[in-house]
Amino acid sequence: MKRLDGKVVIVTGAGGGLGKAYAKGAAREGACVVVNDVVLEMANQTVEEIKGEGGKAVACIGAVGTAETAEKLVSTAVKEFGKVDVLINNAGVVMPAMMVKMTEEQWDTVLNVHLKGAFLNSQAAVRNMIENNIKGRIINISSPAGIYGGIGQANYSAAKAGIIGLTKSNARELARYGICVNVLCPVARTGMTDSMPEKIREETYQRIAKKNTLQRMGEPEDVVPVIVFLASTESNYVTGQIIEIAGSLGFEAV
Ligand SMILES: NC(=O)c1ccc[n+]([C@@H]2O[C@H](COP(=O)([O-])OP(=O)(O)OC[C@H]3O[C@@H](n4cnc5c(N)ncnc54)[C@H](O)[C@@H]3O)[C@@H](O)[C@H]2O)c1
Repeated sequence: MKRLDGKVVIVTGAGGGLGKAYAKGAAREGACVVVNDVVLEMANQTVEEIKGEGGKAVACIGAVGTAETAEKLVSTAVKEFGKVDVLINNAGVVMPAMMVKMTEEQWDTVLNVHLKGAFLNSQAAVRNMIENNIKGRIINISSPAGIYGGIGQANYSAAKAGIIGLTKSNARELARYGICVNVLCPVARTGMTDSMPEKIREETYQRIAKKNTLQRMGEPEDVVPVIVFLASTESNYVTGQIIEIAGSLGFEAV
């Protein structure tokens, strides 16, 4: 018996980086996975890799941040696999700029994908869970930037801090249905971290290697076991928690 046998898990932004690792990790533990991404080829690639390992997955293409995509995520899960047990709100973009130079578009885009997307997806998934009496799980992905802030990250830090507030409110509201809602703050080498300008990227990685309590940069695989735990029935007494997976007691490397 695997830890997610019989579970249907939606992962947004699962075409690359951490989301892909979550989708593959969930499938390896027996889950049927809805693989969302805004980039068709990336989502399809993740699905192919899962199927290649003998797992079950379907792609669901769409830009997170609209009610239409939120409904599509849920209807795809129900149509393909019969229900929704777990939603992982992972999709995200960064548009860094110093606050004095940040455009309204940079602000709106980042807030829309991360925060509004997490709200709309949760609403659609939870409505279905309640209707079908499913004691589901929502795992929201925030960031150390949402706790400690970050230079050039006013939009991103605000969105990620908002996700923490959303998680805590939803955990309280949904407890009566047995639905647990938690938030993860990972740090791992991905396309997102690699997209930093080379000088800043190297400085950041070196700072993390030197100052982090565990003195190394994280990898997506470091985060997967916590995702599996939170998605499973083993986590039924854990809700409203912020879990930092950053190799650190307080992200000294910010
Ligand atoms: N990598 C880190 O160290 C780190 C740290 C803290 C938080 N996070 C968070 O983890 C999540 C995943 O980050 P990552 O590092 O894997 O990034 P990534 O850029 O490697 O992957 C993000 C994925 O999301 C997809 N995506 C972007 N906008 C989308 C949208 N509107 N709808 C659907 N898919 C969309 C991209 O196509 C991509 O496949 C993000 O929410 C990010 O903020 C990452």
